[in-house]
Amino acid sequence: MPYICPICQNPLMQQLSSKSYYCPKNHHFDLAKEGYLNLLPAQHKKSKEPGDSRAMMHARRNFLEAGFYQPMAEALANIINTHQPTAKPMHILDVGCGEGYYCRQIEAFADHPESLDLHGLDIAKNAIFAAAKKQQNARFVVASSKSMPYADQYFDLLLKVYAPANELEISRLIKAGGLLLIVTPGPRHLWQLKEFIYHDVKDHAVDVPLPADFTQIESQRISFKIHPDKDQRMALLQMTPFAWRANAEIQNNIQRSKHLEIETDFILTLAVRS
Ligand SMILES: C[S@@+](CC[C@H](N)C(=O)[O-])C[C@H]1O[C@@H](n2cnc3c(N)ncnc32)[C@H](O)[C@@H]1O
Ligand SMILES: [Zn+2]
Repeated sequence: MPYICPICQNPLMQQLSSKSYYCPKNHHFDLAKEGYLNLLPAQHKKSKEPGDSRAMMHARRNFLEAGFYQPMAEALANIINTHQPTAKPMHILDVGCGEGYYCRQIEAFADHPESLDLHGLDIAKNAIFAAAKKQQNARFVVASSKSMPYADQYFDLLLKVYAPANELEISRLIKAGGLLLIVTPGPRHLWQLKEFIYHDVKDHAVDVPLPADFTQIESQRISFKIHPDKDQRMALLQMTPFAWRANAEIQNNIQRSKHLEIETDFILTLAVRS
């Protein structure tokens, strides 16, 4: 079984007759109608609605579904296609998966979708609800990446796209010989958007720190230009960590700019666990 109890860490088993998961100590968790599990106990919540808000989730979904980041998503899927383990299925976890765009793309571009066991985890319930509703073939949970409710060494590959995660948990969950795939912004990422906000735009640091027991085996830089319309520019802005710096005047300037071309720049780092 993939899951462990978030309260006592014992294995969680699904009762055949019901849609509930139980641990030996009788903590239980119901599968939601949309097929996801909420494994974030109330006592682990630091706020009522942790993680990205519903508005942020919608902005992200609209922007991503318009295909602006598809070349990067395809590159992720290609890496997964070329690193299939001999024992099937390949267990994959997308940590901080948001509304599930990359899980859907990995399935869509998979050479053998039937041999993937796709999981997504996010602390934002609204995002997991939206992810589960759109992809029945994947298993989604509401949980914190600081304490992930999965059995030790369950995963062949863990994906982390702009999401926080705890290094010890990453090491615990990936099998020996398993893979960690991290997406981080490259030096030119969203340069033209930043020019509206900062007087002197600085290159982004590209150093990607890895947990102690991982060795980098591949690094790909993917950059391309996008031309979002007025609303899509606002959605993109909302997805960035610098959105809070954009006051009404800056937002207006971004929207009014004619033929705005924005560079994207992604670093895909693949590492193997010893
Ligand atoms: C920048 S978004 C990236 C989402 C997705 N990977 C993507 O690129 O579309 C970061 C995500 O991490 C989630 N998040 C923030 N803190 C978290 C935590 N402690 N545990 C799990 N997810 C978290 C947020 O809810 C949000 O969905
Ligand atoms: Zn328990």
